[in-house]
Amino acid sequence: MPEPIPIQPPVGRLGVLTPGMGAVATTFYAGVLAARRGFAVPVGSLTQLGHIRLGKRTEDRNPLIREFVPLASLDDLVFGGWDPYSDDAYTAAMKAGVLEARHLEAVGEELRAIRPMKAVFSPDWVSRLEGVDNVAEEESKMAQVERLVEDIERFRIEEECDRLVMIWCGSTEAYRPPAAVHQSLDAFEKGLKENDPEIAPSQIYAYAALTAGVPFANGAPNLTVDCPAMVELADRQGVPIAGKDFKTGQTLLKTIIAPGLKARMLGIRGWYSTNILGNRDGEVLDAPENFRTKEVSKLGVLEQILQPDLYPELYGDIYHVVRINYYPPRGDDKEGWDNIDIFGWLGYPMQIKIDFLCKDSILAAPLVLDLALFLDLAARAGKKGIQEWLSFYFKSPQHAPGLYPENDLFIQLTKLKNTLRHWMGEDLITHLGAEYYEET
Ligand SMILES: NC(=O)c1ccc[n+]([C@@H]2O[C@H](COP(=O)([O-])OP(=O)(O)OC[C@H]3O[C@@H](n4cnc5c(N)ncnc54)[C@H](O)[C@@H]3O)[C@@H](O)[C@H]2O)c1
Repeated sequence: MPEPIPIQPPVGRLGVLTPGMGAVATTFYAGVLAARRGFAVPVGSLTQLGHIRLGKRTEDRNPLIREFVPLASLDDLVFGGWDPYSDDAYTAAMKAGVLEARHLEAVGEELRAIRPMKAVFSPDWVSRLEGVDNVAEEESKMAQVERLVEDIERFRIEEECDRLVMIWCGSTEAYRPPAAVHQSLDAFEKGLKENDPEIAPSQIYAYAALTAGVPFANGAPNLTVDCPAMVELADRQGVPIAGKDFKTGQTLLKTIIAPGLKARMLGIRGWYSTNILGNRDGEVLDAPENFRTKEVSKLGVLEQILQPDLYPELYGDIYHVVRINYYPPRGDDKEGWDNIDIFGWLGYPMQIKIDFLCKDSILAAPLVLDLALFLDLAARAGKKGIQEWLSFYFKSPQHAPGLYPENDLFIQLTKLKNTLRHWMGEDLITHLGAEYYEET
């Protein structure tokens, strides 16, 4: 058996900081608070409910993941965040309308105590948020970094945290391709001092987190840590990073279904995806510049899974469309329709229709929990830089230059579990299984 790697035990409290205290973040806080009081089962969380097979199938070793690897316990989590609106987490959750009042009330006191720190915010990057009342007015982007680092350190002391992680749960920022300022840490730091307009608010949070030694994951599709400057910073600071864009809803289904069709060598001519969504995220995404960021993230998934260059007869000519329309009556209850035009033997056409009545934040909240716990584990295991084994959670997994991202959910899960086995000194599982049939 391989040697386990040294991992520091999860002693003390783990602070989870979320820039953005909207639907996803507040649903995450409330769910964890309810789960640890025994009011709810943390459905959707691999760290809480998942088992992992170890050794041969005949050994019957299937511990819970949280009993196999030393994860922080839900009882040790504390929450904090920043938001340009001053609502406490209870009020924000009521406005987001994801959870019912009776569920929020059960953990109401703890939610009311979570008050947002003043945001680093710019309407140039997130349009359509009116009436913001909790934004700090610093002179320069470097001054914003310094204030965020102070916020982080104050939180660490006041909440008696031994360790922290930061997960971006803020709105999707406007699409801008990487610029010169993102290409190296030197250029980025110069840009912070000179107020370079290409540096987004999310990158100011990320820079502050990494300089304070806090692991960072990005739940939105904006660039944030997915650029050479931030990778360099994460490596220099010895801090893990991951991103980007939580894999929920329609894209989750896409990365479940597309690998299945491809496994059977069934062709695809077109995949039309459309959504209606009425929460604040839907409103932000209704603005074309914000939606462009999401579109880039959503479109890339099929291309990578289906490998049209290797399978030109099956996937060389797919018409792939993704739309999101803001439709207030639905609130957080998204409806996503997919029409998939497939073809089989002799090119005979068939169609698949999916109508997914989904609750976006209900799907996203457990991912925030898992990412917080796994990033903390990675930090205690001495891992730094891009954590590609966490691709399982993202629509656009961040990866090393020169690689293509792995989007197939099942390959991602195997990768995640094999990473845990490897760290803990267990044999990797290849599913070869020849030993059950061959004479020894
Ligand atoms: N819900 C999902 O299934 C899902 C899936 C993938 C990605 N996401 C992404 O997660 C993010 C959060 O989604 P949500 O549904 O909670 O949205 P939301 O609009 O309810 O919450 C986002 C919050 O971020 C705040 N915000 C905006 N700019 C900020 C800044 N600079 N600093 C701090 N806070 C800021 C907003 O005021 C808002 O309260 C979005 O970017 C969304 O695209 C969500």
